[in-house]
Amino acid sequence: EKVTLSVIKADVGGLCGHTLAPEELLDAAEYVLENALDETLIDYYVTNCGDDIDMIMTHNKGTDNEEVHKLAWDALEAATEVAKELKLYGAGQDLLSTSFSGNVKGLGPGCAEMEFVERPSEPVVVFCCDKTDPAAFNLPFYRMFSDPFSTAGLVYDPSMTTGFRYEVLDVMEHKRVFMDSPEETYSLLALIGNTEKYAVKRVYRRKDNEIAAVCSSEKLNMIAGEYVGKDDPVAIVRAQSGFPAVGEVLEGFANPHLVAGWMRGCHFGPIMPVAEEDAMPARFDGPARVMALGFQLSHGRLVGPNDLFADKSFDKAREKALDMAEMMRSMGPFMPHRLPESMMEYTSVPKVLAQLKDRFLEMDEGCECKLDEIRERGDME
Ligand code: 13P
Ligand code: 13P
Ligand code: MG
Ligand code: MG
Ligand code: MG
Repeated sequence: EKVTLSVIKADVGGLCGHTLAPEELLDAAEYVLENALDETLIDYYVTNCGDDIDMIMTHNKGTDNEEVHKLAWDALEAATEVAKELKLYGAGQDLLSTSFSGNVKGLGPGCAEMEFVERPSEPVVVFCCDKTDPAAFNLPFYRMFSDPFSTAGLVYDPSMTTGFRYEVLDVMEHKRVFMDSPEETYSLLALIGNTEKYAVKRVYRRKDNEIAAVCSSEKLNMIAGEYVGKDDPVAIVRAQSGFPAVGEVLEGFANPHLVAGWMRGCHFGPIMPVAEEDAMPARFDGPARVMALGFQLSHGRLVGPNDLFADKSFDKAREKALDMAEMMRSMGPFMPHRLPESMMEYTSVPKVLAQLKDRFLEMDEGCECKLDEIRERGDME
């Protein structure tokens, strides 16, 4: 029988500011999920990455199932009630609709789901992020599924040597394209190296079209039409036996890369792999965090998690991320720490620029006025 792994997440309030979703919120969400065990869910695990609540759920109802999405929505609404009661910052931030309508997609929460026949042993890694956007996974997915210097299995495992297929979203044009690795890796990189426009949605194993990875890619800011925080992503990756080994999956984050997000969603900064207890971004509201929770599925039961980035061997990555953070911060409001204008469309920055609009003069016109003024004052021949 097939099992579905659904990760649905949202930010419904922070303690304080955008730093943390406190226990009270997780408890409220958990209470709703607990009551749905047996009837809707097989199992669940609720955690947070910074101010985002991540609900990891298993069931037999397939992806995009209304009952499961409604349950997740109810849990997030319950947490929102508590957030409002506590007057947490941005209470209900990511719930952009007042009512549920069939699927959480388009309503604000992020969602990554996959359905598969559970293997004799089914290791999965669930990644949860804060202070960044879905394209943050482009580079690590490439490392996991296309870079043999990162994933040795691409060279050693006969079921992986035929490669992987990427489903890439054009988040601006709302289109998608399938690209095959390794044959098309150069063109694939031409797309996904542009993290402003393209985000990897899913990865499939080409040998048998088995789903290997999926990422949430809801465009929160575009849905809201104004800045309401970043669409901090989650992702699921299956590991071992024809998929990258767990350590190969994690290796994608061993060399921190720069991602969009951080303070006010307006800055590039490193993404730092952290343990669950260290997922509370505070410095300049960041830098971006990623947690990796390892589970073994057992007839849909979530055995675990193993908090994989708690491993000491990621200390160097964290140190490096902190050095990168320092370097980027020194740029203040200057690019390339600051995002380009095209990526700030849904932040508060365009409002500031709009205020300056009428102050601009044609370049020639401006110079003449100034020169005349100066001549009149007699400062110039
Ligand atoms: P173990 O001998 O610890 O099971 O390791 C096997 C392996 O393949 C590690 O990548
Ligand atoms: P979140 O998307 O995590 O709420 O971050 C918003 C923000 O503005 C951080 O400075
Ligand atoms: Mg927030
Ligand atoms: Mg967040
Ligand atoms: Mg957010």
